[in-house]
Amino acid sequence: MKSLIGVSLLASALFFFAPPLPEAPTGFDNKSNGLVDDATHAADQAKFEETEAISDGLGPLYNAQSCRECHQNPTSGGSSQVNVLRVGHRGADGIFQDPEIPIARGTEIIKGRSLVNDRAICPNGTLPSTEIQERVPDTEKIRTFRVSLNLLGDGFVEAVSDQTFVDLAREQCKKHHNKICGQVLYVPVVEAPGQTAVGRFGWKDQQASLLSFSADAYLNEMGITSRLQPDEITNLCNTVSEPNDKPGHEGFSDIDRFARFLRASEAPARDSQVAQTSKARLGAELFDKVGCDICHVQTLTTAAVGTKVNGGAFTVPPALGDKQFHPYGDFLLHNVGTGDGIVQSMTEHYGKNVYKTTWRNLSIPEFQNTANKIRTAPLWGLRLHSRLMHDGASVTLLDAILRHGGEAAHVTEKFEKLKPAEKEALLEFLRSL
Ligand code: HEC
Ligand code: HEC
Repeated sequence: MKSLIGVSLLASALFFFAPPLPEAPTGFDNKSNGLVDDATHAADQAKFEETEAISDGLGPLYNAQSCRECHQNPTSGGSSQVNVLRVGHRGADGIFQDPEIPIARGTEIIKGRSLVNDRAICPNGTLPSTEIQERVPDTEKIRTFRVSLNLLGDGFVEAVSDQTFVDLAREQCKKHHNKICGQVLYVPVVEAPGQTAVGRFGWKDQQASLLSFSADAYLNEMGITSRLQPDEITNLCNTVSEPNDKPGHEGFSDIDRFARFLRASEAPARDSQVAQTSKARLGAELFDKVGCDICHVQTLTTAAVGTKVNGGAFTVPPALGDKQFHPYGDFLLHNVGTGDGIVQSMTEHYGKNVYKTTWRNLSIPEFQNTANKIRTAPLWGLRLHSRLMHDGASVTLLDAILRHGGEAAHVTEKFEKLKPAEKEALLEFLRSL
């Protein structure tokens, strides 16, 4: 008996003294988090900021000329007010269908994506640029805007193991009696054909890998192909023979530099002055007490250094592994009553050849299930966002909170029952993030 007590005391002592994992570095100072040296990081940042021209393959259909145009606040890699347009319709079976958008006086129909590009050019002059502009037909009844996301700190998010999200979803659902159950969605990792990983990036968790996302954004936001997205949206009007990024160039092309820039970025820093006030500290307690933290999870930890993530395509480096960080999000999909009805398109995000590969764990019904779900918005850097929620349609914190229904309805009710001073404290806490 005595020795048993001794053993359990020792065990609890060990548990008690297990040192906390080191914190992921934070800041908006453009420094590297240690993944690369600051000079390399600055060079990668310059790529991210570069204004692409026709000679780089820009267009014909596009939204902006550089990543930075939409990811800039308060510094490159942050978010912005820029939003993008997505539309579609429901088919006879009730299932979401991508839009069909005629361009060039109906001679070509753009299919296989929900994104609609706001700009168009015809560099080779075969058509007037004005003829290839995408415009939404009235038949596309499902319509939404999606605001640009913050990318700073995303290297830490990418380095979280799939199992961490699977466990988080399971425990959340169990603890809240099946009322709050985040959905885990396995998505293709484009650079690891056949492999999937738990989606964590984009408003719909449509990507797991920052390299896959970079290739997706380069093509769909800027019209520039790469080895991972080699097919143009349309073959009309192109001048540059692409991709300029051929197999064998892994590690050196633009998409690799974008991904490395994001992986090396520091996480958003809090406003420490506001965070220290007694009001904000009370607000933090109330945030947990009413249950905001069920989805807006304060702390996550990255996988151990050397773990393979992204279906084996990325090995967690020392700068990213074994760290704790504070995203105030679970990166899971929830129905909080704000769903936009859109199911992310396979061909848009994973390439026109997506159906030629068999992807481990890929489930089309699971994708369908996301139509009215949105990823919990991570609240790190929240004080820098002037437009809130996926559509940017809420412009005050209070409005954003009161829009939470569905799975969050009970938590919203509890928030509404707080005394005015308590509500104000909770909002003050949010203003410290
Ligand atoms: C026209 C604006 C625009 C441009 C240009 C743009 N993005 Fe984005 N970005 C967005 C929007 C909007 C989202 C959210 C998309 C969604 O989920 O529907 C996003 C999301 C992302 C995400 C996911 C972040 C997260 O944490 O979930 C990454 C990564 C990203 N962009 C990288 C890039 C890179 C790299 C480039 C340049 C090649 C780029 N973006 C260019 C608007 C843009
Ligand atoms: C069931 C999960 C869940 C709970 C509980 C929850 N949220 Fe959210 N929260 C979300 C989701 C999902 C979104 C994104 C919704 C959208 O964009 O349509 C979101 C978005 C937000 C946003 C907007 C952030 C941005 O950058 O646009 C704020 C602010 C926010 N939540 C605060 C709170 C607060 C405060 C509470 C507690 C009173 C709370 N949430 C409870 C899931 C949740």
